[in-house]
Amino acid sequence: MYIADSKRYDTMQYARCGKSGLKLPLVSLGLWHNFGYCDKYETMRDIVLTAFDHGVTHIDMANNYGPPPGAAEEHFGKLYKADLKPYRDELILSSKAGYGMWAGPYGEWGSRKYLMASLDQSLKRCGVDYFDIFYSHRPDPETPLEETMGALADMVRQGKALYVGISNYNPEQTARAVDILADMGVHCLIHQHSYSMLNRTSEDGLFSVLEEKGVGNIAFSPLAQGQLTDRYLSGIPADSRAARPEGFLKQDAVEQNIGKVRALKRIADEKGIAMAQLALLWVLRGGRVTSVLMGASSVAQLMQNLAIVNMPALTAADCEKIDKILTE
Ligand SMILES: NC(=O)c1ccc[n+]([C@@H]2O[C@H](COP(=O)([O-])OP(=O)(O)OC[C@H]3O[C@@H](n4cnc5c(N)ncnc54)[C@H](OP(=O)(O)O)[C@@H]3O)[C@@H](O)[C@H]2O)c1
Repeated sequence: MYIADSKRYDTMQYARCGKSGLKLPLVSLGLWHNFGYCDKYETMRDIVLTAFDHGVTHIDMANNYGPPPGAAEEHFGKLYKADLKPYRDELILSSKAGYGMWAGPYGEWGSRKYLMASLDQSLKRCGVDYFDIFYSHRPDPETPLEETMGALADMVRQGKALYVGISNYNPEQTARAVDILADMGVHCLIHQHSYSMLNRTSEDGLFSVLEEKGVGNIAFSPLAQGQLTDRYLSGIPADSRAARPEGFLKQDAVEQNIGKVRALKRIADEKGIAMAQLALLWVLRGGRVTSVLMGASSVAQLMQNLAIVNMPALTAADCEKIDKILTE
């Protein structure tokens, strides 16, 4: 029987999520990859429980994470039932709906019909009564934003989600969504966006909208799916994400970015830290990001990433050197 480490809150730091009462760990764990039917349950269990033992209270999922879609929530449900159920009040569990989940016109995007059905399915797979955070996974160009936000607001009223958030919305869509929710009496807790040394789009307006509206944010793929680590320095390993047929990380992208990563790695070496740690510290620099949402395929990767919690922040000189490489 799993018993959580009594020292689990000794080292992790927690940051307030925008203007809300909720704090999130500086490092959160996502189950997008490595939690499908092709992965080993024992490894998943080790990753999740080791994370929780080190104060990672936030686990992020979505209806479509797998493969196949639904598998990550099913695996989480299995391990929640076996190990984590006694700790429900210490966990921040999130899920999302927006991408393709089932056949027909009601299986994706942002209609009330899809979102409500998907939430119920996700709750069932995970074996929980409520999610702490439920997201609209992407904006729907064809559904009125009022309908999508209305569904999120009703999830809160029904007690099936404690908080709601949005993901992949641009700055204008974000501002509108937050205002619509506010008119319905619901605060938008959080925006989940892609942000890393290799993707700085969020700097073009998103951060300022979120700050102005008091919305927290969590940065997904902070390691650019593993590119900002030691993983690809000598080619594409057979067990890496870029080598997996179902993966979203294309080998071309890895090859295109490797020169920059090698240059960044020299900065990490000078500082005596790992490339992955440099990348995570960079995302957290300046305190604009509430939490980094990383993935891991092994406990060793997880532990290397969690070590940043006790590392000094990057200096202005470090950030200048990094900027130079990124803008070259
Ligand atoms: N809202 C959205 O649309 C959206 C989109 C994408 C992701 N997300 C969320 O963000 C989470 C994280 O995304 P991500 O998995 O792309 O994040 P990531 O942290 O950028 O990449 C994780 C991958 O990097 C590699 N890695 C991690 N730590 C490492 C280390 N210390 N050394 C070497 N390699 C290391 C592993 O790759 P290998 O598997 O190759 O070992 C791991 O699977 C997802 O699980 C999901 O919850 C949300």
